[in-house]
Amino acid sequence: MNVKKNILCIGAGYVGGPTMAVIARKCPHCRVTVVDTDAKRIEAWNSDSLPIYEPGLAETIQQTRGKNLFFRTDIERGIRENDIIFVSVNTPTKTFGVGAGMAADLHYWEKTARQILEHSQSSKIVVEKCTLPVKTALAMERILKSVPNGNNFEVLSNPEFMAEGTAIKDLEYPDRVLIGSRETESGLKARDVLTEIYTQWVPREKIITSNIWSSELSKLVANAFLAQRISSINAISALCEKTEADIKEVSKAVGMDSRIGPKFLESSIGFGGSCFKKDILNLVYLCRNYGLSEVAAYWESVVRINEYQQERFILNMLGAMFNTLSGKKICIWGVAFKANTGDTRESPAIYIARRLLEEKAEIVISDPYALVNARSDMNGAEGRISYEEDPYKAAWGCHAIAVLTEWEQYKSLDFHNIFREMIKPAFIFDGRNILDHQRCFNIGFNVYPIGKPPLTHF
Ligand code: UDX
Ligand code: UDX
Repeated sequence: MNVKKNILCIGAGYVGGPTMAVIARKCPHCRVTVVDTDAKRIEAWNSDSLPIYEPGLAETIQQTRGKNLFFRTDIERGIRENDIIFVSVNTPTKTFGVGAGMAADLHYWEKTARQILEHSQSSKIVVEKCTLPVKTALAMERILKSVPNGNNFEVLSNPEFMAEGTAIKDLEYPDRVLIGSRETESGLKARDVLTEIYTQWVPREKIITSNIWSSELSKLVANAFLAQRISSINAISALCEKTEADIKEVSKAVGMDSRIGPKFLESSIGFGGSCFKKDILNLVYLCRNYGLSEVAAYWESVVRINEYQQERFILNMLGAMFNTLSGKKICIWGVAFKANTGDTRESPAIYIARRLLEEKAEIVISDPYALVNARSDMNGAEGRISYEEDPYKAAWGCHAIAVLTEWEQYKSLDFHNIFREMIKPAFIFDGRNILDHQRCFNIGFNVYPIGKPPLTHF
């Protein structure tokens, strides 16, 4: 029999919103409330224009909102009225003091822990969803137990493995659900309560349990491994560009080895997103803290190669366009950090856009969903920038197109039409290797892919 549960999530972001929407849909007997300090964001969750774009999200929200899913701003009431509290507030990289640029800024997270303590009138299960440096659940536990008030707080770690753009699918059909708990009687009991929620739709064998620290560390390590594959293939793309090898062919041949596997071997302008860099830097900071400088240097190189790949892209553009971009008009197709999201956090496209402005190029940024975020990211950047959703109009009168996000729609555009409206010689820099390069070359473009020889008319 399903026991009714009252679930709260603090933090209505890219993780909290979709995760709670899926829990509400899969567990109609549960009442799910999502709260956030940002009243505008809550308002957007309650409107027809949701604050984030994610395939399948709007439908899921439509089925559940107002029935057993509620978006509210009253955090205190939320804490009082719910038994299970997911914490999904952001933990950005610290910008000040010890560990600046590396360690996680935990002040939102600690503030949330104190709020839970202050407003709880009964025992709670607190579920850590945010990616946190290992052993922060311990700190959460210490805060929650600092004032003995008769309430028991059991802290669980339940890291999120969903990727943006496929969040709903990843949540519905996860590779695994990981729950870290204390081995005490109450820790195991809390773990069983959370397990029961997931068993409503996830096969039992995919729900794995561990101690809290393994669970926290597994999240950092999973992201570090994924990012490391991208940096590995990107490092080889630089070698391919100097030789006759083609990165797509190498990646295919390497990925067909069943021990290696084909995923996350797409060479690109580098990885972006809110997690990879932040999590690797956390791992690096943690290793340094424990005196493991070689291990720290090893993982740090994954981030260095990622920066190198972005800078290399700019230098390739500069070299190809006769060593000057000054006064040239360059169109950027795609500014989201990956396709199927409007998110631009840590997007390599933002870095590249800023570097192009430094070279005194004029830029036109195009993207189907990310222009609102791009405008705010480019706030304060000096130079000539315009925004145009339509990729055809964006390319009009430009010297070059830089493809920076792998949006499906860019593959099937009318390149004859685009070529006609551009300044000659016209260039395409395909930072995602998604276009038909030979076809674009035949139309008249000079084409510069990643990790393969350019196709030029010179
Ligand atoms: C966050 C973490 O950054 C990530 O490490 C973790 O894995 C999942 O949660 P995300 O959902 O992408 O990721 O962050 P974001 O979209 O910024 O959402 C966080 C929300 O928390 C924001 O809406 C913010 O307003 C809210 N928040 C922050 C609070 O409600 N209270 C606070 O004290 C701080
Ligand atoms: C990642 C993890 O995949 C997810 O499990 C975790 O919960 C959060 O962090 P996300 O950042 O949303 O998810 O996107 P992901 O699909 O991992 O892509 C990250 C970046 O890597 C994107 O910029 C993407 O374009 C890039 N990428 C991915 C490549 O450059 N090449 C690839 O082969 C794959």
